[in-house]
Parts: sequence; C-alpha cells; structure tokens
Amino acid sequence: MKGLILSGGKGTRLRPLTYTSAKQLVPVANKPVLFYGIEAIAAAGIRDIGIVVGDTQAEIRAAVGDGSRWGVRIEYIEQDAPRGLAHAVKISRPFIGDDPFVMYLGDNLLNKGITHFVEEFVREKPAAQILLTRVPDPQMFGVAELDNGAVVRLVEKPKEPKSDLALVGVYMFGPQVFESVHNITPSFRNELEITDAIQDLIDRGLTVRPHIVQGWWKDTGKLEDMLEANRLILDTLERRVDGEVDAESRIEGKVVVEAGAKVERSVIRGPAIIGRGAQIAHAYVGPFTSIGADVEIRDSEVEHSIVLEGSSIRDLANRVIDSLIGRNVRIYRIPVKPSAYRFMLGDNSEVGIRW
Ligand code: TTP
Repeated sequence: MKGLILSGGKGTRLRPLTYTSAKQLVPVANKPVLFYGIEAIAAAGIRDIGIVVGDTQAEIRAAVGDGSRWGVRIEYIEQDAPRGLAHAVKISRPFIGDDPFVMYLGDNLLNKGITHFVEEFVREKPAAQILLTRVPDPQMFGVAELDNGAVVRLVEKPKEPKSDLALVGVYMFGPQVFESVHNITPSFRNELEITDAIQDLIDRGLTVRPHIVQGWWKDTGKLEDMLEANRLILDTLERRVDGEVDAESRIEGKVVVEAGAKVERSVIRGPAIIGRGAQIAHAYVGPFTSIGADVEIRDSEVEHSIVLEGSSIRDLANRVIDSLIGRNVRIYRIPVKPSAYRFMLGDNSEVGIRW
C-alpha cells in the first residue's frame, strides 16, 4: 500500500497568500495543513508516500524533507501544471506501480484519520473506495448516488442532487484506476477530473465502495474553511504554558503558549495558540486564534484569526477578527492627522472595515 498526497494546484481561492507560498503549508493551529495529512497516512501504517508538487515544490520539499521525521519515505512527483486530480494520478504511475494506494488532497483535514477507511479497503478489495460526508448544500460538491451499498453515479455540483453525500478529498484505488485515467478526456475547465475516472471504473463494471466519514472533514481551500479548521483543531489542544507569562496577564481555558513566547499585561482566552518567540504585550488574544512564531501583538486585540510567522499588529483602535494574515505583515496605527487608511497591499488582497 502506498500514499499519494496532492500538493500542487493553483490555490486561487487563497490569494494573495498563494502568490508566495503553498496553500498546503498554511498553518492550522501553527502546524502546516499538509503535516496532518502525512500524519494520518503514517498512522494508517503506510510507509511510502509520494507528494505531487507544482510551482511551490521548493518550499514543500524544504518543509517536509525525506519524511524521516514521521518514520516514512517521501518521494516527490513533479506535475508540470495543475491539469487535474486524475492527471496527478496518471503521472504517479511509476511511483505507485501496481500497488493499491490512498490518495489524499494536501489541503484537507480529517479529525478521525483514515485508518478505518484503509482497513476496510484492504478487507474488501474493491477497485476504488471513496470517502463521503453528508452536507447541507450538496449542489456545491461532487455528489455520490448509491444503490444497494455501492456507488452507481458521481455528479459534479448537481443542480438537483439525488443525495446529500459529498465526496471528501480522500480516495483509495487499486491499479485499475490507471486505465480509467487514460480513458477520460479533459473537462470544460480543461482538467482531468477524478470523478470522471471513478465513473469510468463504475461504467467498466468494477466495484466502487462508499465509506461515510466519521467525525468532521474540512477542505481548507478558502478563508472561511481555514478559520473553521483552525477552530476545530484548536479545540482539541491540551493546555500547556511553556513560555513566559507575567503576573499581570490572564491565560484562560485551552491555551498553548510555546517556549520562548512572552505574554505581558495581556489576556489570552482559549482555545488559542501562541507560537515560539511571539510577543504579546498589553493585548487581548481571543478564542480560536493562532499566533505564529515571532509575531508581535502590542496594544491590540485579535480574535478568531490566524496570524503567520513574523507579523506584527500594533496600536489598533479596533479588534481584528475573522482574519488570515500572512508572513511578515505589519499592521499599525500612525498617530498623526489627518486620520486615514494607508495601505500597501498585494494583488487580490482583501481588507474589510466594519463600522
Ligand atoms: P483544489 O483545491 O481543487 O485546486 P487548487 O489547488 O488549484 O485551488 P483553487 O481552486 O483555489 O485554485 O485542489 C485540491 C488539492 O489537490 C490541493 O492540495 C492541490 C492539489 N492539486 C494538485 O496537486 N494537482 C492538480 O492538478 C490539482 C487540480 C490540484
């Protein structure tokens, strides 16, 4: 059994962060999303993992390395352009060979892992097994139609969904899928779609098993989902205060303060995490907030947000909420008249000012 993690792609929905960085490396509770996927695959007992990479490969290779940190072997598979999930499968044949494999989208999070899912596949040996979850808005997803416990049809974003079972970004395949990825043609968005490849397996009379996900699943491809994933993961943390906290500060609830972080005259209300080397001074860090390494929050309030490494937020009159702030960003107040906003923002940045 092998693992295949897809970590290429365009990441358009997370611009401008994805202009300079891979979306799979955006941290959730201060750990890159991709690492949760590697951990889930390693926990299922899989030791050989291929990671499909694109333009951001240098950064991903630097962050992940050879996998020894997780006790696995990692190989990188270069995709020349994001030509679709089924294209990623196609180019991975030399790595996969004839082994069965689990394919995991590098920006997805599952809190209960994939061990049961993998065990079921090994026991039942279908041509493919797909992970499904019930959603309130199936017209936004790839939807599976079941009959007698087997998948009979997959429809991408159906106008009139026949079920509320959406495809989750984890799949298992036997070698029969390689014929299917050759049989299909690019879709209207010019990608080789994995749903078409799975439909081809069904059309060839092969078995595609459904597996309903236990616990929650999150695709972190856009801001709201990223914040929600952060919320869900922070809630699972154990309180741990290794950094320095002065007597005038209050640390309430599930809070992690990493070693080397400094909290002075502040309130940190969990669930929250404060990364190593961060400085929180005369500030409020509210629930569901991840403060990255070496971030400075001074005379300001931040809640329900993710702030990446090296950024600083100082002297703000209003609380920062629902925000995803990249690396080395500086937000500060200039105490001179006229009072006004002064911006230096990258392409596709977004600023929301609430009155
Ligand atoms: P998506 O989120 O569907 O696509 P994307 O990364 O291009 O993002 P956006 O829609 O915002 O532009 O991709 C799911 C995962 O699969 C993600 O981790 C990127 C990866 N991927 C590849 O590795 N190769 C591909 O050809 C595609 C389409 C995605």
